[in-house]
Amino acid sequence: MREDKGLSSVSLATTHELMPMTASTLRRIATTLLAGLALALHPLVSTAQPAKPAAGARAELRPIFVTAPEIAEGRRLAEVSCARCHGIHGISSAIGIPHIAAQRAPYIYIQMREYLQGKRPQSPMTGAVRFLSDDALVKVSAYYASQDPPRSAAAPAKAPAQKPDPVQAGRAAAGACAGCHGDAGVTETPGSPNLIGFDPKYFVAAMNAYKSGQRKNEVMKPMAAGVSEAELNNLGLFYALQKPARAATKGTGDAAAGKTAAGGCSGCHGDKGVASDPATPSLAGQDAQYLATATQAYKDGTRKDETMKGAVAELNEKTIRDIAAFYASQQPQAPKVRKPLSLAEWAERCDRCHGINGNSTDPLVPALAAQRTDWLEHVMNAYRTGARKSGAMGAMMSVMSDAEIKDLAAHYSRQTARAVSFIVLPPN
Ligand code: HEC
Ligand code: HEC
Ligand code: HEC
Ligand code: HEC
Repeated sequence: MREDKGLSSVSLATTHELMPMTASTLRRIATTLLAGLALALHPLVSTAQPAKPAAGARAELRPIFVTAPEIAEGRRLAEVSCARCHGIHGISSAIGIPHIAAQRAPYIYIQMREYLQGKRPQSPMTGAVRFLSDDALVKVSAYYASQDPPRSAAAPAKAPAQKPDPVQAGRAAAGACAGCHGDAGVTETPGSPNLIGFDPKYFVAAMNAYKSGQRKNEVMKPMAAGVSEAELNNLGLFYALQKPARAATKGTGDAAAGKTAAGGCSGCHGDKGVASDPATPSLAGQDAQYLATATQAYKDGTRKDETMKGAVAELNEKTIRDIAAFYASQQPQAPKVRKPLSLAEWAERCDRCHGINGNSTDPLVPALAAQRTDWLEHVMNAYRTGARKSGAMGAMMSVMSDAEIKDLAAHYSRQTARAVSFIVLPPN
């Protein structure tokens, strides 16, 4: 629980910390406490008056400060305005409609205001909240928050196969390449290129070009043929994550003259040989002999690429060697590639805000445990595309793959949901 939200008069506890009481017993106690203490000790809150926050609390936290009769009124509102879609107990049975039972009350309240203000994408909710007063929103939020949490989705009958770590797998496959390309892709063999510093996209395309015969090389053809598509991706990732280093080989050209001559190449390959387009290879720190041979091959057409053929058509042998020496002397950079996180590593990050196994103890952060899989997937995609805006979620989702979203949605829908009881303590 964060301290900066004016919650000092409220104590939050997840029910599992208060075992062995069941959720409903506890809620009954909490509600009694709420009614009793709030009436006795809090002159602002009574059954007759609308719910009001304790002094100092933020307006969003109002649904925490409700009385039992207000929750009962929330139920009546739910029957009329919400139950046909969310069920009277907040358990949805339809794709696209989230469970809201035992969701954190201030979160429910805030989301309804967001629909009201058009801050969330147009949906059936926009109409559902249109004619409700702020007070009604407070009460109906408290009512749904007081319901028993949804049951978690069943675990799959067969445990999903443990996915191997792609970088470890890449490292293992790279053993076959080390003889020519060096242990970690830093070559010691003149003519055999460095494999670090490439975006995996270029790496995979190059390997596929050898495979298909579009790029002709008698050494690489059989090497590429022996590598499966999955292994290719692992290899590309492994090399992309290695520490960048210049090739441990020597060239013969004049790097200073090469720098001047390479002016026309920098638009695509970068000023210092570090390309920003993933399909264009970086040249910085590359083996000089390989650079010279490759440039020559574009020029004479043995390596077919229209873009490169035009770019190098006018270069003579000396200039090619000078440019090669210049790029070889530059410092290679790691491409912008992140190591994919495992499901456990992701979930650990999510739980920092969403609570242990998605059981949020922060009233402003939604619980994810036992939420519908389709909903979790839908919302994460909405954050990813920006259709639903959130400072906390947007950036994180923008780097996530479809597979990672699917795995996380399945993970949280299978967690056991715990209700949160709000117990109003006497003001000091
Ligand atoms: C006509 C069907 C319908 C009615 C009536 C309705 N809802 Fe919804 N509700 C939805 C749908 C569909 C969504 C998902 C909308 C989206 O994609 O943003 C939703 C989303 C929500 C959310 C967002 C949950 C989250 O985790 O982001 C809350 C909270 C909610 N509803 C509460 C209520 C309450 C409370 C009422 C009654 C006042 C109500 N809804 C009435 C269909 C309905
Ligand atoms: C016997 C030596 C040898 C082995 C083993 C070898 N390679 Fe190569 N590789 C080369 C040579 C030589 C070239 C340059 C070929 C050319 O000019 O197209 C090359 C080129 C490449 C390229 C193109 C790089 C670029 O800058 O476009 C990639 C990618 C590559 N190899 C990956 C691999 C992988 C992955 C393995 C292991 C599965 C491997 N190689 C095994 C010698 C080898
Ligand atoms: C319009 C963009 C563009 C320009 C300008 C350009 N290149 Fe390229 N270069 C590319 C692309 C794209 C490739 C990858 C082609 C392929 O897949 O074979 C490439 C590949 C290369 C390679 C092969 C690298 C490897 O790892 O196999 C070398 C060497 C190279 N360029 C050198 C040069 C030099 C020298 C110049 C300037 C005289 C130059 N390029 C100008 C786009 C460009
Ligand atoms: C920095 C804190 C933070 C982290 C880390 C975080 N979240 Fe969130 N999350 C939030 C907040 C705050 C909201 C409510 C945002 C809003 O109002 O749209 C939210 C909303 C969500 C929702 C919408 C729930 C609903 O019912 O509509 C989902 C799903 C979600 N997060 C999943 C995740 C996952 C999966 C991760 C880990 C990859 C994660 N979050 C990491 C703070 C966080």
